[in-house]
Amino acid sequence: MSDSIILGIESSCDDTSAAIIKGNSILSNIAANQAIHKEYGGVVPELASRAHQQNIIPVVEKSLTKANIQQNAISAIGFTRGPGLLGSLLVGTSFAKSLAMSLDVPLIEVNHLQAHILAHFIEDANPMPPKFPFLCLTVSGGHTMIVLVKDYFDMEIIGKTIDDAAGEAFDKIGKIFDLDYPAGPIIDRLAKEGNPDSYKFNKPKLENYDYSFSGIKTSVLYFIQKEVKKDPDFIKNNLNDLCASVQKTIIEILMAKLEKAAKDLDIKEVAIAGGVSANSALRQAMQDNNEKLGWNIYIPKFEYTTDNAAMIAMVAQLKFERGEFTDLRTSATAKYDL
Ligand code: KG4
Ligand code: ZN
Repeated sequence: MSDSIILGIESSCDDTSAAIIKGNSILSNIAANQAIHKEYGGVVPELASRAHQQNIIPVVEKSLTKANIQQNAISAIGFTRGPGLLGSLLVGTSFAKSLAMSLDVPLIEVNHLQAHILAHFIEDANPMPPKFPFLCLTVSGGHTMIVLVKDYFDMEIIGKTIDDAAGEAFDKIGKIFDLDYPAGPIIDRLAKEGNPDSYKFNKPKLENYDYSFSGIKTSVLYFIQKEVKKDPDFIKNNLNDLCASVQKTIIEILMAKLEKAAKDLDIKEVAIAGGVSANSALRQAMQDNNEKLGWNIYIPKFEYTTDNAAMIAMVAQLKFERGEFTDLRTSATAKYDL
């Protein structure tokens, strides 16, 4: 891999992030989270793009300072072109374009989903990078899919959610429990003190490798409405058990299809990526399958799971080596296939 220094910029949702990569080694990875969305129980697109505008310059400056890199040492600029919230993407895209123009360096567009998967090739993401072909369960707030990764830029989605994403299920169920947004990490924490076998919730019965998470959400909602009628403090009194049971169900749904795909395709290289791959029960389930099924598992380092610019810089580096540059007339795109 070349030793070029590349700046990566991520602004697809509610995190403004900038990172500097040299080869595949991350020199800095800075993110500004947008606490503002907590009050609204979800990301408000208009507020997100406004916050990106405020954050982007300080975040990029900080990434350069932390990496101890001068602007003129940068060989290229990578940015998230999509998928994501258009208003948010536009901020990162316009900034990347103008900086590339002023520094006279190539501009490189990055697909956010590819970046979650290719984060596994960052030097310190794993003790060893995955070997092709591998399966990658990509689970975030906006996406849930099983991807067959044949090569760096040769990926095939073999299964995906037909409704909510797994992260969305965590967040929406968290809302029913009156937890802050995003509820995924909170449910994970509360579940540690709970009994995962306390309650049973509906699981979808779908053919092939597709997922559905709207059923579990409704099943939890109806159950809670019924119980709260009998005991108004039901949620408060049983919160840990509720979180543990919900988490167990979501992880079982995710793992069942992943196991089926690995078996059918006879692949033992199995990775997880995206925000939900930070979940401790999912990480444990992967560990278990390393022992039970002989999988070689790839679980990214925590800081490369939720949205971050390090993964954008990694993809930009791979594209830089291949001479895959983007025209300055490019624009952001809310939808962007793998
Ligand atoms: O990849 P990401 O940062 O943003 C998207 O591209 O969507 O993923 C965010 C999602 C949120 O739904 C959040 O609740 C979930 O990842 N998440 C978790 C955990 N940490 C983040 N879900 C369950 N357990 C966690 N520990
Ligand atoms: Zn993401």
